[in-house]
Amino acid sequence: MGLLSTGINEIIAVTKDNAAPIGIILRDGQCPKMILFKGSATEKNIRTYGWVTANFVSQASLYARFAFHDAEADELTAEGDMQRLRDADAWIGFTAEVVHETEQTYLVDLTPVTETVIRPGIRRVNRGFDAVIDATIHATRYVFNHSEELRQRMLYDFELIRKCGGEDELAAKRILEEAVGFSC
Ligand SMILES: Cc1cc2nc3c(=O)[nH]c(=O)nc-3n(C[C@H](O)[C@H](O)[C@H](O)COP(=O)(O)O)c2cc1C
Repeated sequence: MGLLSTGINEIIAVTKDNAAPIGIILRDGQCPKMILFKGSATEKNIRTYGWVTANFVSQASLYARFAFHDAEADELTAEGDMQRLRDADAWIGFTAEVVHETEQTYLVDLTPVTETVIRPGIRRVNRGFDAVIDATIHATRYVFNHSEELRQRMLYDFELIRKCGGEDELAAKRILEEAVGFSC
């Protein structure tokens, strides 16, 4: 499993006709796993169809977009019985099985069946990119609980994006600002 590293890999998960940012957890000696909050389309599709692809992208704005907007049909590409993001730099196809359930989550074990690098390359270190990922996670929670603590963290991230980000990170910031209803 060359594309995943130990820890949590923040990828775009594609399931049938759907895309959403999700973390894949990889710990030494264990298979890759996802923890899915109940109620998301990703959770329902994995239980219905039993597959998911992990898509690696270098555009930060895709994390913000797919956290809050549906994927258009032409943004997805069929790969056998599975689908991946059309613009993925690399992707892994998994079969997926729910192995544990809590009140709010499902624990999903992943078995890799294919791994493809489409565009090899390096992603530059950019604090604006990282701040988009951080702000997007906070934003997905903020829209449900309107926590002041999360709002302050997002304002910090927005400032970092403004200072360190490029065009794409600034586009991501606009998507997030519209989703949460405030800006910096
Ligand atoms: C970087 C990132 C990682 C995320 N990781 C998870 C995760 O591991 N599990 C989860 O249930 N939601 C996670 N989310 C939140 C989902 O992306 C979000 O709830 C999304 O709206 C679900 O979309 P869906 O209904 O199309 O599946 C994450 C969000 C971001 C931005």
